[in-house]
Formats: sequence, structure tokens, C-alpha cells
Amino acid sequence: MKVLLTGSTGYIGRRLKQKLIDDSDIQLNLLVRNAKSISPQACKNAKLIEGDTFNIKALETALEGVDTAYYLIHSLGSKDYKNLDKISAQNFIDVAAKCGVKRVIYLGGLGVKDEHTSNHLLSRLETGEVLSSNPTVQTIWIRAGVIIGSGSASFEIVRNLVEKLPVMITPKWVETKAQPIAVDDVLQYLHQSIYLQTKKSIQIDIGADAMTYKDMMLETARALGLKRYLLPVPFMSINISSYWLNLFTPVPFNVAKALIEGLSSEVVIQNHNAKKYFPQIEPSEYYEAVQKAVKEIEQNQVISRWTDRWDRVWEKEHTKEFSDAVFVDRKELSIAGIDKRKVYESFTSLGGENGWFDFDFLWEMRGIIDKMLGGVGINRGRRSQCDLRTGDCLDFWKVVDLQEDERLLLFAQMKVPGLAWLEFKIEDDTLIQSAYFYPKGVWGRVYWYILVPLHYFVFKNLISSIVKKAKAKS
Ligand SMILES: NC(=O)c1ccc[n+]([C@@H]2O[C@H](COP(=O)([O-])OP(=O)(O)OC[C@H]3O[C@@H](n4cnc5c(N)ncnc54)[C@H](OP(=O)(O)O)[C@@H]3O)[C@@H](O)[C@H]2O)c1
Repeated sequence: MKVLLTGSTGYIGRRLKQKLIDDSDIQLNLLVRNAKSISPQACKNAKLIEGDTFNIKALETALEGVDTAYYLIHSLGSKDYKNLDKISAQNFIDVAAKCGVKRVIYLGGLGVKDEHTSNHLLSRLETGEVLSSNPTVQTIWIRAGVIIGSGSASFEIVRNLVEKLPVMITPKWVETKAQPIAVDDVLQYLHQSIYLQTKKSIQIDIGADAMTYKDMMLETARALGLKRYLLPVPFMSINISSYWLNLFTPVPFNVAKALIEGLSSEVVIQNHNAKKYFPQIEPSEYYEAVQKAVKEIEQNQVISRWTDRWDRVWEKEHTKEFSDAVFVDRKELSIAGIDKRKVYESFTSLGGENGWFDFDFLWEMRGIIDKMLGGVGINRGRRSQCDLRTGDCLDFWKVVDLQEDERLLLFAQMKVPGLAWLEFKIEDDTLIQSAYFYPKGVWGRVYWYILVPLHYFVFKNLISSIVKKAKAKS
């Protein structure tokens, strides 16, 4: 069977990709927006097609001869996401019909359309409607609410709040009911949907037992071995709650807001098709799902994270490369006699819990300022403390290029008046560390000159600490 997977660089897609590659009955196509965001090892035995759903030619190549196609796409993060999502789904279903695709499997959000429906959920519902609108293609529309798994945005919010705050002031939405589901169960439904023996289009709502967000927080605390207290307050606006989450969790303001907007309405299943069509799948309990997620985090086994998607917003907004930089701070140190692998491991282990050496507090302060300015801040950390791949977030950086034993290029996603990159490169017996900056207007130039003295100490310390660490491990 020929299958197309879209969204394979996203949270769900990355995990599903592995399952599909392991299924010997499947010949897999992957449609990705940036071939660099997926490593060749991660897609061996699959055909990679570069393009997006706004590129009809790429869609035709990706869908040619395909029996079943997964639609795991959303444009959350871009301002016009509602409109983009609609066009994207329409293009996809039109080309799928033209290519003779028999089945489209879509994972959307759980919930109903009413006056409280958030824009995010509305867009998920509209996407499902568009995908189901072509009578020649069968649509299996799976609908999930909160997904519990290591690296999922909702779980990271709950975990961070529970870990950081012994007493939490909570808005009234914590009493809203939802039906969370473990990410492994979601993957089972998605995978087994390929083999469903029905020809009609169906909606399948999935979820474990219903519980309130308050219960989720208390159960998470129990799974983490913590005692937590919640103090409900009658009023707390969506904006205040979003700022609160932005400050105490790794999730940025816009993602927090999109999620919170959806919390005022119940997110419970509307049909029993999951039991009818997949009687063999028994969803895990919430406590069990949390324990598994926590174990994966502790063992550095997080396969995907909500920060994984390539985030085209910043790519689209500017076309400059690091080679266009106006200012460069370049430092070199000899690494003769040191195992090069250790040098590579040393600079690719920066950030997250591993920190940034002696001037850690300055990086942290920069992160706090960034959060206060509405940026991503430093507390996104790393997906894994010992593994890095292109597309990963590293505190307020994004890994845009990673060449084994040679190079790491980071792009700054913090709020800066311009564009900034940080590069580590091994050339023969030398480690070269370069900070590049492309300033935006006069303020960008002033910003760079103000930071020159600080950069002098921070960057000097950074390169020498990397080499020192490599030497010690060599
Ligand atoms: N994650 C959850 O907790 C959750 C819960 C309930 C339902 N769902 C549903 O599950 C689906 C997948 O969610 P997710 O969390 O895995 O999403 P995600 O992490 O945000 O990933 C989105 C994916 O879509 C790709 N993409 C975006 N626009 C595209 C376009 N125009 N053409 C081609 N690819 C495009 C992105 O590629 P790039 O890497 O290039 O950006 C990325 O791979 C969504 O429909 C979502 O509503 C998710």
C-alpha cells in the first residue's frame, strides 16, 4: 500500500512516521516543507518530497499513486492561520481526488461549534469539513482533545505549572471537563485507520475517561510525587492566564492563548465510533500516560516536541542568510591534540539543563527579558539533554544546520532588533565560533554596539569552556 504522510516534522507526524516506516506493508511518501528539517536516517525507506500544500505541483508528485494520505498539518503560529488552513485543506483534497487517493486520514481537535468555540478549534473543525467535502475520497476524521505525551504543549504546560508552583491561583476554566488521551493511543488509532474495513467517511472521537483540568493538575502532581494546592479565583482573563503561562512554562504567549481560549468549553467525545471501529484499543488512564511521559523525559527519549515544526513564520518574514550579516564576532581556538568528536559533543550539548558555562546567569537574564517582551525566552530548553537534530529548539535558538562532527548553526528566535546566528565549526585543528548579526535599522546597530563589551566576555568564555570540556572528556 502506498501511503503519504504530511506533517512528518510535527509533534504527531514525527512519531507516526516511525510506526509507518516499521510497517512492512507500507511504501511511504513524506511531504516536507524543508528537506533539511528531517535527517536522512530518519526517513530511510521513505521517499522525500519537498514542498507544501500551497504548491500544487509538489502535491501532485507526493500524492501520485497513493492509496491513503495522512493530513497532519496546521499553520498555528502564523497570523492568518485560519484562512491558510482552509486553503491548504482544499488544495490537498482537490489534488487527492485528482490523483485517485482512496482515503484521507485527518487528526483534528475535539469539540463542537458554538459561540465559545476558539479560533484554533474552529480552524481544526473547518479543516475537517473541507477534507470531508469531496465525495470521491473517503475521510477518516479522528478528533482528539488534550494529548498527553512527552513534549506535547499541553502536557508541558501542566507539568511546568505543577513542578514550579506549590500553590496555584487558578481561573474558573480549571473546572471544565476534557477527555485527555495518551499520545501512544493516538498513534494506534492513526496507524490502524489505514486498515479499517469501511468505505464511508466517518468521524471518530477519541479520549480516555473524562476529567477536569484541575484533576489533571492534581493527578500530574501525584505522578511526580508532589503535593500541590489549587486556589480558584472567580475571574482571570484569557490574556492574564496566557501571560501567566508564558512566564512559568516554555510555551510562548500566542500558543498559550490559543490553548486557553479553548479551555472554556468542554472537550468531550460526541460519538462512540472509537469503540465501534477500534474495539481492540483500550485508552490508557491519565496517570499512566503521565508516568510514561515523565519517564521518557528523564531518560532523554523524547521523540518529538511541540517546538519541532520548522516555524516558517520567521523564515518567511525575512530572506537574509547569516552570510548577509553586517556584524560578526569571530573567535578561534586551537583544538590540536583533542578528540574532535568530544569538541563536537561539547558544543552540541549547550543549553537546556547543561547551561552555557560561566555566564549562565546572563543567558538566563536575557531569557527573562525576552519573555517579558513576549518572546520565546530561554525555558524551552532542549528536547533531549544528549541528542540534537536539525529543527530542534535550544533555549531561544533554533538548530538550522547540524553536520555531524563538523558544524552547528543556530538561529536566534529571541526578540532582537535584527537577525542573529551563532555558529560553531571545526576546521582542521581549530574551533571557530562566530556570532552573526544583521541589524534592523539604527536601533539594531545601537543594540550591537551596546552589547560589544558583554559579548567580549560571554563569547570568549563560551569557546574556551567548550574546548576545556572537550579536553577533559578527551
Ligand atoms: N499536538 C497535539 O497536542 C494535538 C492535539 C489534538 C489534535 N492535534 C491535531 O493533530 C494534527 C497535527 O498536530 P501537531 O501537533 O503534530 O502539529 P505541529 O507539531 O504543529 O506540526 C505541524 C506540521 O504541519 C506541517 N505544515 C504546516 N503547514 C504546512 C503546509 N502548508 N504544507 C505542508 N506541511 C505543513 C509542519 O511542517 P514544518 O516542520 O515545515 O513547519 C509540521 O510538520 C493537527 O491537525 C492538530 O490539530 C494535535
